[in-house]
Amino acid sequence: MHIITTIKEMQQYSAEQRRNEKSIGFVPTMGALHDGHLSLIRASATDNDITVVSIFVNPTQFAAHEDLDKYPRTLEQDVELSEKAGANIIFAPTADEMYPAPNNATFVEVSGSLTQGLCGKSRPTHFRGVTTIVAKLFNIVSPDKAYFGQKDAQQLAVITKIVRDLNMSVEIIPCEIVRESDGLAMSSRNVYLSPDERKQATILYEALIAAKTMISAGENNISTIKNKLSSILNSKNLATIDYIEIVDFNTLCQIDSISPQTLIALAVKFGNTRLIDNVIISH
Ligand code: PAJ
Repeated sequence: MHIITTIKEMQQYSAEQRRNEKSIGFVPTMGALHDGHLSLIRASATDNDITVVSIFVNPTQFAAHEDLDKYPRTLEQDVELSEKAGANIIFAPTADEMYPAPNNATFVEVSGSLTQGLCGKSRPTHFRGVTTIVAKLFNIVSPDKAYFGQKDAQQLAVITKIVRDLNMSVEIIPCEIVRESDGLAMSSRNVYLSPDERKQATILYEALIAAKTMISAGENNISTIKNKLSSILNSKNLATIDYIEIVDFNTLCQIDSISPQTLIALAVKFGNTRLIDNVIISH
């Protein structure tokens, strides 16, 4: 497995692949890879001649009080897992390589409901960091297709928007959420959970399934569904609800009743660990 650390070499590598008419699939990550990430790499390896995985813990998407310093970093293991899943190249630049001093003055930012609601409320600068780094990575890797998990449904919506608004020539491929056998969505942050918190965290998916069942049985009233979600989540004493949102998946705008593509999204803190999960209900 070849690990590239400089922007110049990555750009040269991609240019050469394109000259040879090889298709490039791209999976951006922050490392600490688990089966969720690996499902994206496998999808890319199936669809493309070359799969590039980036591993970069992006400082601009973390606020000062967030977990940038303690975010798990497991590069050696990530390289091995990526290779097994079908990746050809790891792009693992340093923070200085991506953001040379003194500081980054150019940001790519999506305004409005896509970034202001849900996670944007408690993380007001997060999506600007995500869209900026993803735009930079797209310019460096020049992929034909890029793979993103529905686990981060708002991120997926925001990235789809920058690609459309800025006419980027990359196709965004959404990938389903990969879960542990007890339903907990895989996340690099699950390692922060204490054994008790880990047990209680299954309540997230249980609550989402309960909401989905209510909707399938004909419930259409958003407040009734939110109340049900809230009572299930509050039944665990380790959980603090950040948000319970039921929105249109494409616009992330509030809805009065269930829409053709409804996103039910939760953010809940277990101790100091904030977890997110969601289901998308198509009607
Ligand atoms: P990270 O959290 O490492 O996630 C990388 C990709 O893996 C994202 O597209 C995310 O949605 C996907 N993913 C994470 N858990 C998943 C799961 N359980 N099932 C399916 N896919 C899953 O998201 C980021 O990194 C960063 O914001 C990034 C886009 C790399 C920009 O820095």
